[in-house]
Amino acid sequence: MLPIEIRPDIFWVGVNDRSTGLFEGLWPIDNCGISYNAYLIRDEKSALIDLSKEAFTDDFIRQVSALVDLSELDYVIINHMEPDHSGALTRLRELAPKAKFLGMAKAIAMMKDFYDVTENVEVVKHDQTLSLGRHTLRFLFTPLVHWPETMMTYVEEDQILFSCDAFGAYGALDGAIFDDEHRDLLGAEQDALRYYTNIVAAYSKNVLQAIDKVSAHPIAIVAPSHGLVWRKDPDRIIKLYQQWAKYATEPAEPGVTVLYGTMYRNTERAMNYALQSIHAAGVPLEVFNVSVEDPSYILPSLWTKRGLLVACPTYERAMFPAMVHALSIAEIKGVKNKLAAYMGSWAWSGGAKAVFDGFVERLNWQPVGSVEFNGSAKETDIQSVQQMAQQLAEACMQG
Ligand code: FEO
Repeated sequence: MLPIEIRPDIFWVGVNDRSTGLFEGLWPIDNCGISYNAYLIRDEKSALIDLSKEAFTDDFIRQVSALVDLSELDYVIINHMEPDHSGALTRLRELAPKAKFLGMAKAIAMMKDFYDVTENVEVVKHDQTLSLGRHTLRFLFTPLVHWPETMMTYVEEDQILFSCDAFGAYGALDGAIFDDEHRDLLGAEQDALRYYTNIVAAYSKNVLQAIDKVSAHPIAIVAPSHGLVWRKDPDRIIKLYQQWAKYATEPAEPGVTVLYGTMYRNTERAMNYALQSIHAAGVPLEVFNVSVEDPSYILPSLWTKRGLLVACPTYERAMFPAMVHALSIAEIKGVKNKLAAYMGSWAWSGGAKAVFDGFVERLNWQPVGSVEFNGSAKETDIQSVQQMAQQLAEACMQG
């Protein structure tokens, strides 16, 4: 894409990544891609805000060079040091030898750790300002959103918040970068939710603190480092992030996420009775087969729904491994504050329930019940499953 002017002399100079299969080596983006947004301000002094992933350095350099002579670039603002935004740093320093690299103290330390860079760098502090001429930058320290060095950069005259990963989303930018140009805004919000739960959610408390901090400033445009630039309705993405962040500590939406794994369909057959009971109670539910569904796509439901039904058999005296993987990712991402129930089959030994109990304890879930059965579920087992599912559904409606 060509550079896009988002305000006079302020340009989007990002790149699209449609070739990476797993973002961070973990999260599937092969069906949607991702953008690495960077921004350039032309003024008496010029400033580049964030960079790109190393593999896209050539594309990125071409974007910026179309607007400024890199050998005359004055500043590079490093909001965040994760290599999807700093990977072009080494090459850029070669091409822009006069440019001073600015970041919070931990970002400057990471420049040495990642790229062995120690010269022509400068530590900035929270609320410090930098005049470029007609534009004034204000640096807002927003630690742990989602690394300890992260900050946001605010342009006072234009009320633009360059928020880096915060308010970001999966999804390459298909020819347009603004929220008011996007033809499927609900789809973009779903991409933002998956991104939030995959990348940012573990630091939800810090997200709320960051939102408090930036809310002291009027915001006309939210310009993150991934996904859409929000100029028509910047409040929309801020409010969504705020709502999702609150789910870390407050009840989420009424609804049940059903995770199931099954070897010979004994657990699955019994689970079908549970689904009927939850549906009959009028409670929304989403069902995921953990053997085939990547946790990346499970996390949005887990995060936003109050209830969780884990349905899987015992395997080798422990829990079905694909379920352990899904729940372990949920644990890493801090999926707490859930009403949870377990059901599953065992053959010659139990074990899955004990593993489930461990997740309940560590994640502070509220257990609603459990049903285990030997082999296939019998009539009394099915009645127990139905009763437990109904209790789970009713508890979820009560919040
Ligand atoms: Fe988009 Fe945390 O880097």
